Formats: sequence, C-alpha cells, structure tokens
Amino acid sequence: MTNTTIGIIGSGMIGANVARLAIAAGLDIVICNSRGPETLSELISDLGSNANAATIEDVINSSDLIVLAVPFPAYTNLPVDLLAGKTLIDTLNYYPQRDGEMPEVKTEHTATSEMVQSHLANSHVIRALNNVDFVRLLSSARPAGASDRSALPVAGNDPLSKDTVIKFLDKIGYDAFDMGPLSESWRSEPTTPVYVAPYMHSETSYVAQKVTVEIFKNAPGRTVTRDEVEILVKAAVRHDKMFGKLPEFAQD
Ligand SMILES: NC(=O)c1ccc[n+]([C@@H]2O[C@H](COP(=O)([O-])OP(=O)(O)OC[C@H]3O[C@@H](n4cnc5c(N)ncnc54)[C@H](OP(=O)(O)O)[C@@H]3O)[C@@H](O)[C@H]2O)c1
Repeated sequence: MTNTTIGIIGSGMIGANVARLAIAAGLDIVICNSRGPETLSELISDLGSNANAATIEDVINSSDLIVLAVPFPAYTNLPVDLLAGKTLIDTLNYYPQRDGEMPEVKTEHTATSEMVQSHLANSHVIRALNNVDFVRLLSSARPAGASDRSALPVAGNDPLSKDTVIKFLDKIGYDAFDMGPLSESWRSEPTTPVYVAPYMHSETSYVAQKVTVEIFKNAPGRTVTRDEVEILVKAAVRHDKMFGKLPEFAQD
C-alpha cells in the first residue's frame, strides 16, 4: 500500500477536481460515489487511465490516503471499521440549505471535523481542502516555488498523517499552513476570513455580489500566500452559526 494511489469518496464537484489535480501530479486515483462504479464511466473516461471507479470498500482498500468529498451528513454513513488506520482528508462543510437542519452541529464549541473524527474514531482525520471552491481549487494550483502559489490551511491531531496531507497538497499545487490540532479547525470553516472569498477576485466573488454561473466558472483565482493564510486564520472569530450558505447566482 502506498500513497501513490489516492482514494476519493465522493465524485462530485470537489472529488472530481481533487482527482484531476492528483492525476496531473502523476498519482493514481480510485473514486466512488453513492450510486455505484457503473455510474462513473463518463468521469473515468474524462480523467484517463490513471483513474478507476470502484465500490467504497475497494476505494478504502486501495489507499491509505483518502479524500472525503461527500455532503456533510453522509459522514455518519462512512464505514468506521474499514476506515480504521487510514489518513482521511476532511473537505466537508455544513450547509443547512443543502444538508438539512442538524441541531447536533454546535460550531461554537465543536468543529465539524471533530464530529467526523468522533465517528471515525480509529482513523486520522485531517482538515484540508474545504476552504476553496472547486473551480479555483483546480485553476489556482501551481508547481512548488511558483511566485503565485497559494496556501491552504490544514489541521489534525496525528503529526504523521498531517505531514502526509501537507506533502499531498504540495504535490497537487499548494503550500500549507498548519493551524494545529483538529480542535483549531473551526478557523477555516464557513464564515471565517480564510473561507473561499480570499481565493477569488473580489469583482467576481459571489460573496461580494451576485455573478452568473458562467462568470463563476471562468473567474481567475487570487493568490493567497502562506503568510496571508496565517493572518486570516488568526483573525477568525468563533460563533454559533459557522455554516455554509449557497451562492445566489444572477441569471446568465
Ligand atoms: N463544491 C465545492 O466548491 C466545495 C469546496 C470545498 C468543500 N466542499 C465540500 O465537499 C463535499 C462535497 O461537495 P461537492 O460540491 O463535491 O458535492 P456534490 O457535487 O454534490 O458531490 C457529492 C458526492 O458525494 C457522493 N456521495 C454522497 N453520499 C455518499 C456516500 N454515502 N458514499 C459515497 N459517496 C457519496 C455523491 O454521489 P452520488 O452522485 O452518486 O449521489 C457525489 O458524488 C461537501 O461536504 C462540501 O461542503 C465543496
């Protein structure tokens, strides 16, 4: 088992674009969704020969580094025993509009990643890849050393797993800023300064104003250096509604 095969659970906007970045970095990926591998043929043919669709069991058995890219409530369905010992990248953000009301989410004292870690008690959950939108995630990736390379915040309790994830981010085009243990991961949750907006140019940011889907899909990213990520992460203020809000797009 090596980290040259990346498992991805969830094949939607974020899962597919993490797959694209990993493949561009020379890695293999194995990916699943909720409906079964036979429904992923179009995506696999788009991703090329380094990608395979599989069942969730085969994804987990194929890799020690697995990206969780499912809607937040689905974390409770993830198989605890099979995922034991694995390093998991938690990209999951809670959006009540999309995910439904979940009164058990208490962001004022528990980060959502801590809930994922509690469920997957024997896995190493690392918070990362949750604070940039799927379009800019793909378009803003840069090789190591590039002057316009961005950084992403990372949090986790297990140092080795965190190191593995930081190395993975480096391979797929990003520097990292270590926020500390998972209890600090609230600092990159929805509504915080480092969440989504800084990675977009303000004139195209749906946070600043309504934009069309077309503009959203084509808008360039903005470089957010490691130093800026550190400032933004430290400026975060905790409160009881750190939930995502879906963008309202203007008519095309
Ligand atoms: N979109 C972004 O820009 C972005 C950025 C950062 C973080 N995130 C977070 O990433 C997560 C995924 O978001 P998304 O936008 O990629 O959503 P999405 O496009 O709706 O994709 C969700 C994927 O999860 C799969 N899925 C759902 N339940 C599953 C289960 N129990 N087992 C295996 N696969 C399952 C779905 O499979 P089916 O299609 O077969 O149902 C689908 O492939 C969310 O928690 C979101 O907050 C998203």
